[in-house]
Amino acid sequence: MFRSGKGLFIVALADFLADLDTMAEQAVSQLAAVTDDEALEACRVKYLGAKQGLLKGIQKGLAKVDKADKPLAGKRFNEVKSTLEEALEQARNRISQQPTSKIQGPRLDPSLPGNPHRIGHPHPLTQTIEDLKEIMGRLGFTVVDGPEIEDEWHNFEALNIPASHPARDPLENFYLATAKHAVGPMLLRTQTSTVQIRVMEERKPPVRIISLGRVYRPDTPDATHYPMFQQIEGLLVDRHVTMADLKSMLRLFAGSYFGGDVHIRFRPSFFPFTEPSVEVDMTWGDGWMEMGGAGMVDPHVLSSVGYDPDEYSGFAFGLGVERICARRHNVTDIREFYRNDVRFLHQF
Ligand code: DAH
Repeated sequence: MFRSGKGLFIVALADFLADLDTMAEQAVSQLAAVTDDEALEACRVKYLGAKQGLLKGIQKGLAKVDKADKPLAGKRFNEVKSTLEEALEQARNRISQQPTSKIQGPRLDPSLPGNPHRIGHPHPLTQTIEDLKEIMGRLGFTVVDGPEIEDEWHNFEALNIPASHPARDPLENFYLATAKHAVGPMLLRTQTSTVQIRVMEERKPPVRIISLGRVYRPDTPDATHYPMFQQIEGLLVDRHVTMADLKSMLRLFAGSYFGGDVHIRFRPSFFPFTEPSVEVDMTWGDGWMEMGGAGMVDPHVLSSVGYDPDEYSGFAFGLGVERICARRHNVTDIREFYRNDVRFLHQF
């Protein structure tokens, strides 16, 4: 390097080319050695960086090469530049193709047993309800629903339970605080027999239905009682229906659900809406447990919904779902069904 007459530094061609070659050699060998993206980027910035890159530095030196040598210097510079760019491209391809081995931690052992997820299932009462629908469906009964909030007509009056009847005592029922302009007193239904009336009011005989749902009574909870429980109600009205039909149907029903090891018996009883009436018991331990009530639909009830009692007769029954479910699974306290203890529920 020496001073030109105009006071500029003039770079000798040989020096320029030597700097260029040294830099190129270094760059190529470094690029060939990089193994990851980070090192590659550092290398690119170092040699080919637009501001501080070494190639850029040498390019500045090009301006200072003697005018006569410039074409040669420029040509060599361009050659080196494309060599570096090619080397960079090659290194980039090489890195992108190598397998990434960045997985941290212990290696996966696919032979280890997994962590099984607990899969939920329907509540035992829901299962029982489904089973009962299935069995009764096979016997030709269709399922209907009724409201849980009822008026006195459907819960009492139409079922032959007059205003003077002790069952209508406010202490025996959950009456609702209704507004003055309401149609009349409303209460949480105490029995699904309400649905018998609702169905008969709307349909002409023959009728062959069941209805399942919640009923409410201010009872003290114990092993066989709960203030809210579920009933299955059945009603069959047609010509020439007899008590024998009722008994054989309930026996068939019990046999299908319990599978033969539970016996049922019928005890004479009284319900305002059936005549004659029976209570239905099932064997339980050494004794019997009440399962519900049944009977021949009282002629008064038939006429209250506009059916002719001389032409039609029918039977009806109402059974407690919790007790049926408890008997099937040998549960000794129906309160378990409402405690929602998963240790209990998991057994079904
Ligand atoms: N509804 C009655 C109760 O809750 C049970 C019952 C008895 C229903 C006789 C009936 C029936 O359909 O015919 O105790």
